[in-house]
Formats: sequence, structure tokens, C-alpha cells
Amino acid sequence: MGLGTLYFHNIVGRPYYKNIPLGLLFLNWIVQRVFKINNALPFSCHYTSTVIGIENMDVSETFKISIAVSGGAYIMASGAKLTVGEDTIFAHNVCIQTINHDFINRDKYIAKPVVIGNNCWLGNSVSIMPGVILGNNVTVGANSVVTKSFPCNVVIAGCPAKIIKSITS
Ligand SMILES: CC(C)(COP(=O)(O)OP(=O)(O)OC[C@H]1O[C@@H](n2cnc3c(N)ncnc32)[C@H](O)[C@@H]1OP(=O)(O)O)[C@@H](O)C(=O)NCCC(=O)NCCS
Repeated sequence: MGLGTLYFHNIVGRPYYKNIPLGLLFLNWIVQRVFKINNALPFSCHYTSTVIGIENMDVSETFKISIAVSGGAYIMASGAKLTVGEDTIFAHNVCIQTINHDFINRDKYIAKPVVIGNNCWLGNSVSIMPGVILGNNVTVGANSVVTKSFPCNVVIAGCPAKIIKSITS
């Protein structure tokens, strides 16, 4: 890490930004603070992502790093809470939703809370559906659509996601 980076991290007082390229943080800042996209977020958000409902989010610092770094995310915590535990990270193009549109009236929403445990990893292009609860140490394989809840210490994958491995140690 260069001196400039260290200096920047000291100024903003957010150590979880360490190792994120300053250029990316700057680009994110321009999009959020100048163009007012994802402007409600008090932390950096990747310039290609959409994150809505910060007032309903209780997310870890590591998750915020993923929000800054992983592009194409669509994370919506509208009408219900999104909780994400410590050390949980995600890759690009992840979608996490707390709402469905009504099947007839598209202006009506059905909201269910989503909980993702500690030390989870969501691979590329994972979609987490409303109401899903994931335990700690859950790995979600790339392109999975998670439609139901899973316990701790499993690897899940597929559409719909199913357990492909249990982690024993
Ligand atoms: C889930 C994952 C971690 C599992 O890796 P692994 O333990 O080496 O899994 P294996 O290759 O042994 O696969 C076990 C089985 O699950 C299946 N599988 C693995 N990943 C899958 C996926 N993403 N979707 C559907 N099925 C999957 C395999 O086809 C295999 O099925 P089989 O037993 O019928 O042959 C990995 O496949 C994955 O998806 N990684 C995400 C990569 C990524 O997004 N990286 C971004 C960097 S942040």
C-alpha cells in the first residue's frame, strides 16, 4: 500500500477500504456525490451497482468492501430488513432482494427480510430471493438462485440452489 493510500484511509477513517484502488473509490465517489446515484449510502458503492434501502440494512464492514468493489450488484432492502454478518463477501453481479412484485398489481410489493450469516461467500451472479436466511459459513456457487433458507457450514449451488457439500472442519 502506497503512502497516498495510507494517508487517504487515515483521512476518511474507514480502514475497511484498505487495498481498494484509490481510482475506483474516486470513481465511485464521483458517481455517488456528483451524479447522485446511490447517494443515500454513507459508504462507497461500485459505480455500476444499485443499492436501495440503506435504512433497512444492517450489513458488515466486509460486505461494504464488496459493495465498493464488486460491480453490477442489485441490492434492495425495501419494506423489510437485510442483515449481513461479519466477514461475508460477494463477487460481481450479485442480486439480493427483499421484495417481490404482486403477481397482478405490479405497484404492490410483498416484502420479506433476508439474513445472510457470518463468513459467507456469494459467487458471481448469485441471486438471493426475499425471505432467505443463510447460516454462517455458507458458500453460494456462481449463478445460483437461492429460493429457500440453508443452515450453517454448507456449499450450495444451482438453480434452485441445493446443498452440494457440507463443511465439517
Ligand atoms: C461452489 C464452488 C465454490 C464449489 O467448488 P468445488 O467445491 O470445487 O465444487 P466441485 O467442482 O467439486 O463441484 C461439486 C458439484 O457441484 C456442482 N457445482 C459446482 N459449482 C456449481 C455451480 N456454481 N452451479 C451449479 N453446480 C455447481 C458441480 O458440477 C459438481 O456436480 P457433480 O457432483 O454432479 O459433478 C464453485 O463451483 C463456484 O461456483 N465458485 C464461485 C466462483 C466465483 O464466483 N468466483 C468469484 C470470485 S469472488
